[in-house]
Amino acid sequence: MLKAIFLYLSRQKLIQNFMVNFWVTRRVVNRFVSGEELEDGLNAVRKVNSEGAIATLDHLGEEVSEPGEAEAATEVYLNALDHIKDNSVDTNVSVKPTQVGLKIDKGLCEENFAKIIERANKYDNFVRMDMEGSDCTQDTLEVFERLRKKYDNVGIVIQSYLYRSEKDVDEVLKLGGRIRLCKGAYKEPKEIAFPKIEQVDESFMKLTQKMLLSSIYHGIATHDEKLIEKTKKFAQKNSIPKESFEFQLLYGIRTELRHKLVKEGYNVRVYIPFGREWYPYFMRRLAERPANLFFFLKNFFRA
Ligand code: FDA
Repeated sequence: MLKAIFLYLSRQKLIQNFMVNFWVTRRVVNRFVSGEELEDGLNAVRKVNSEGAIATLDHLGEEVSEPGEAEAATEVYLNALDHIKDNSVDTNVSVKPTQVGLKIDKGLCEENFAKIIERANKYDNFVRMDMEGSDCTQDTLEVFERLRKKYDNVGIVIQSYLYRSEKDVDEVLKLGGRIRLCKGAYKEPKEIAFPKIEQVDESFMKLTQKMLLSSIYHGIATHDEKLIEKTKKFAQKNSIPKESFEFQLLYGIRTELRHKLVKEGYNVRVYIPFGREWYPYFMRRLAERPANLFFFLKNFFRA
């Protein structure tokens, strides 16, 4: 119930405007967001790198409706890639398709992605296309397919809660594409997504196994220790080396688990968001774990 409310609120622009402009909320949000500026993101990457993990930088923002906004977001990523190179930090970038124009025009989105991917290519870096709500899935996969046919340094995200995902994994693997697998963070109806968490987890493991057997380097993105343990066991049993895949976690979540995985010799990547448009991202984090609401309220009133 609370989850559905947070996911509904994540799409309410009026509440977003209020929250984003209310300075008190900033302190609370800092648990999940590195800061407003690129430099904040780079500092977080430096720290994570010094602790033995790698990163992916996300400039917060989504669902833009004007080509100029999509162009501005693209520029932020181009600049970020230059700074990543200049600062020698170990991070790639993650980009939301609707932030670079998917909902305006698929062609525009593809053009903007191509610019980011080419800049990343110049520095031997990599671009991950995040996956958003199911109204974007098909378009995102189509844009990815066209880009993947031209570039090696682009990957996609697949969500285990969607019924269609097994077929999508097969298609992406045929293209030799790198996948980040996650459970999925949006509100989806039972007509298209598994309604029970056990089914989502079962799908997650089925897809993980398929991915790991593909000999392509993939990302297993979850904080769920049960699934992480099962992934480790499956890899060991099938002689899949630790270096041939990575675990991925979100900034500010299960940091001790990240340290443990690093210590065990696994590749670990942390998804580090920065920017001012933190509201929808933050509400999805609350939806995943309603207990975060108490953390939010406690800090909100202390601030
Ligand atoms: P689950 O929700 O079962 O949580 C397992 C445990 O992790 C919890 O018991 C708790 O300890 C901890 N935990 C999880 N979420 C927490 C939170 N918000 N606050 C505090 N603790 C928390 N989704 C998507 O739709 N598109 C995408 O592109 C991405 N990208 C992405 C990148 C990376 C690196 C990660 C880790 C996740 C995503 N996601 C995503 C989000 C993903 O779909 C999912 O919503 C969250 O990871 C939560 O699910 P878990 O797999 O962690 O399991």
